[in-house]
Amino acid sequence: MGSSGPLITTLLLFFILISLVSRQKSRSKLRQPPRLSETIPFVSNAWQFMTNKRLFINRTREALRASPVVQCRLGPMTLHLVSGGSTVSAVFRSSFTSDPWILRILQHTAGYASTDLAKFSADDSGCATLPRKDSTGSTAPEKRIWHAMHRTHEEGLVSAHSVGAFSASFQECFREELSTLPVGNWVEVRVSDFLKKHMSIAATRSVLGSRILEVNAGFIDTFWEYEQFGESLSFGLPSWLNRRAISARERFRCMCRKWYKLADQEFDWDTVALHQDEEWEPIFGSQISRGLARWGKQFSFSVESFGAAYALLLFGLHANTIPICIWMVMEIIKDPDLYHQIKDEVSQANITDGALAGNFDFQRLASMPLLQSVYTETLRVHVSILVTRTATEPVVIGGYNIPKGSVFQAPTEVAHLDEIVWGTPDHPASEFWTYRHVKEVEKTDSTGYVTKKLEFSIAARGGNYFPFGGGISICAGRNFAKPEVLLTVAMIISNFDIEFIEWLKLDGTHSERPALDNTGYANAAATPPDREMKVMWRRI
Ligand code: HEM
Repeated sequence: MGSSGPLITTLLLFFILISLVSRQKSRSKLRQPPRLSETIPFVSNAWQFMTNKRLFINRTREALRASPVVQCRLGPMTLHLVSGGSTVSAVFRSSFTSDPWILRILQHTAGYASTDLAKFSADDSGCATLPRKDSTGSTAPEKRIWHAMHRTHEEGLVSAHSVGAFSASFQECFREELSTLPVGNWVEVRVSDFLKKHMSIAATRSVLGSRILEVNAGFIDTFWEYEQFGESLSFGLPSWLNRRAISARERFRCMCRKWYKLADQEFDWDTVALHQDEEWEPIFGSQISRGLARWGKQFSFSVESFGAAYALLLFGLHANTIPICIWMVMEIIKDPDLYHQIKDEVSQANITDGALAGNFDFQRLASMPLLQSVYTETLRVHVSILVTRTATEPVVIGGYNIPKGSVFQAPTEVAHLDEIVWGTPDHPASEFWTYRHVKEVEKTDSTGYVTKKLEFSIAARGGNYFPFGGGISICAGRNFAKPEVLLTVAMIISNFDIEFIEWLKLDGTHSERPALDNTGYANAAATPPDREMKVMWRRI
């Protein structure tokens, strides 16, 4: 080979190296998820996200058909949109957090004071019992504000005894609302208006007591003004671009603050331990209300942040549950067969003797197959939210390596309307179909007599059905939502004879078509109807 040997070896090594580097490069290119197209880089997707969410979601759906992860630039931020059962389930694991997203909500939607927001920012130990391994701040219990919030929710919203207490008090308060209506007279009613007013009064009283309504004239109307801006506030636009939204939030927050100050002055905090497990006391109301006050005091919240915390609690309580209930009541009234079947089911859950006679047994109600199917279907079709997480470590998702700190969003709408998962030959996934989550089973009794019965059976779960999100940050109020919705439906259906009159546009004029989702709310969780239903009803 003579003197050319080392040269050839060097050249060979050089070419091998080049080819390895370029293969590596093309592999790392391959590992990048595809991007959602944009006409004006960094701008057009962000603009569409804020102004035409339905179109944004439809484009996302198309892109997610080709890849389980799609990148999308929204201004300076890169999002990773995900779909598919296993991919979505993966972002609900512990290597992801929702803290940054919640922090935006606390800051912009609720209006926490900056001094208190700093306490959340300083705590990166997460909401789980064990602090995150890589947390950089103090993990002393008195600094773990996220974990303390999570525990407050678990005790006051998720636990069986808090759910039982809420079901009982909501039932009582909603019955009081209905009892103000005359018996035997046919009256014209607008379903959305009626439920928005009376459910929010009953749920507010059940959770915080009646005083917040007494000391704030127009409290319920002020809430619904604020509610319209829940999602747009979370974008955190500068105040000169968002004046109406911020002023609606501030009006409502000030009402909550006013009530909190009165309650705080009156409550004997020295005996707080005595009230720890009490279901109800007249000053703060329920356990979650007292828990929230205790948590805020533990972290020395300003009175501004207390106002914000209660405003957000009420937002969580009403903003999704009431639209879902409105849809359910509308679906049932729209379909006379369904109306009679539901009437029959709810009558089976009516307590007929003893001290609770005339009440509904919520556990029994919640086990009724058709009622459960209609509830599940309503959540499937009408919840539209981008469940958001940030990766706390480098992750492999859908075959792509994605760095720590990346933001992921799982659109419920893409999963819930997936034809392959939910569609049937006669009932496409986009359609509301009462019987989607029931199956007919044959039961044989001891004499050999065979009867057919409906059984509740949901066709998909996990990453294909997540109206309440998932993982450790799953909706803390999910166990409150179900009794509130099912008890309202049961009380409406069993207390009234109802006749449908017509659909109305939101300005009150006649509409030729029934209600569809109000697209202004897409991605905001439960989407309210864009039409009102006018009925005649008579209390029986
Ligand atoms: C049908 C009714 C409801 C729907 C569809 C709904 C939906 C959701 C969703 C999608 C999330 C985000 C979960 C995640 O990131 O994985 C959430 C969080 C939350 N929801 Fe609900 N929600 C409903 C009712 C309620 C009620 C009645 C309350 C009671 C106050 C409530 C309180 C909360 C709270 C506190 C969180 C934050 C949980 C955390 O990050 O630890 N929600 N909800």
